Amino acid sequence: PEMDAIPRPELFDFNGISMIKVFTANWENIQNFQARPDDILIATYPKAGTTWVSNILDLLYFGQREKAIPIYERVPFMEISLAGFDSGTDFLDKLPTSPRLIKTHLPVQFVPKSFWEQKSRIVYIARNAKDNVVSYFHFDRMNKGHPEPGDWSSYLQRFKQGKMVFGSWYDHVNNWWKKKQTYSSLHYMFFEDMVEDTGREIDKLCSFLGLTPSVEEKTRIVGEVHFDKMKNDEMANYSKIPVFDFKVSPFMRKGKVGDWKNHFTVAQNEEFDEDYKTKMNEPTLQFRTEI
Ligand code: A3P
Repeated sequence: PEMDAIPRPELFDFNGISMIKVFTANWENIQNFQARPDDILIATYPKAGTTWVSNILDLLYFGQREKAIPIYERVPFMEISLAGFDSGTDFLDKLPTSPRLIKTHLPVQFVPKSFWEQKSRIVYIARNAKDNVVSYFHFDRMNKGHPEPGDWSSYLQRFKQGKMVFGSWYDHVNNWWKKKQTYSSLHYMFFEDMVEDTGREIDKLCSFLGLTPSVEEKTRIVGEVHFDKMKNDEMANYSKIPVFDFKVSPFMRKGKVGDWKNHFTVAQNEEFDEDYKTKMNEPTLQFRTEI
């Protein structure tokens, strides 16, 4: 009842990207944020597997750390600023542990320049557009801190137009992909690969980060980050966030590749594919919509 009393925010154009106030209110501090060489930035378009990879990185670096800390405190969200709470950048400035694991959804052109100067490592996770939009739709339904999603078909239209919080999925994944060609400390991962073989993707991640966990350690982490395990983990499933209405949809919803088939009509799918071709301009960037 209290949640319904708070109006949902409006999207507005912010330097060419659709945004809401909680992610732009602290803009100056975000742009001036001081990255460190050992920082690890976890960058994604929303709903691409941020929490999953955050948990993996946290376990790799701080396996034994206090388990009663929610994921959003272990891996702070850089651009968030909510009245009454420390902003993401304040929180990060005070974080006592290193390396710092930092979450962001910013398009690549908005990343604070100190990350590039410090050559901090960046892990980008991308998810195929169809599953990404389905996941985002259910998230926007339950997240009262985001604009009203409306019905599925209008939501899908707006997704194609980039009228989502953090803008266009197409620009996000393409521009981060382009960045990889000039910035070597960037590891670009796919949600679909993670679902297919989590252990293999953790190996690749470790080789990027220069980590060499034991076989036992790696097996333990694969078990810890299984969907069912994370779904029931109160420190990973966001169940303590008051603006999330879990009666509408859980944060850990399905964790699958191909759920889009339960949402797209045949006509929506055809239109989507046509439009997709006009927006994807990086021939080497290929997504799988089923595995
Ligand atoms: P679905 O809505 O398709 O289930 P993010 O963390 O970027 O917000 O992404 C959330 C999406 O990742 C949700 O997708 C969620 O279920 C999925 N996810 C989170 N943890 C997962 C895990 N351990 N295994 C598989 N999917 C996971």
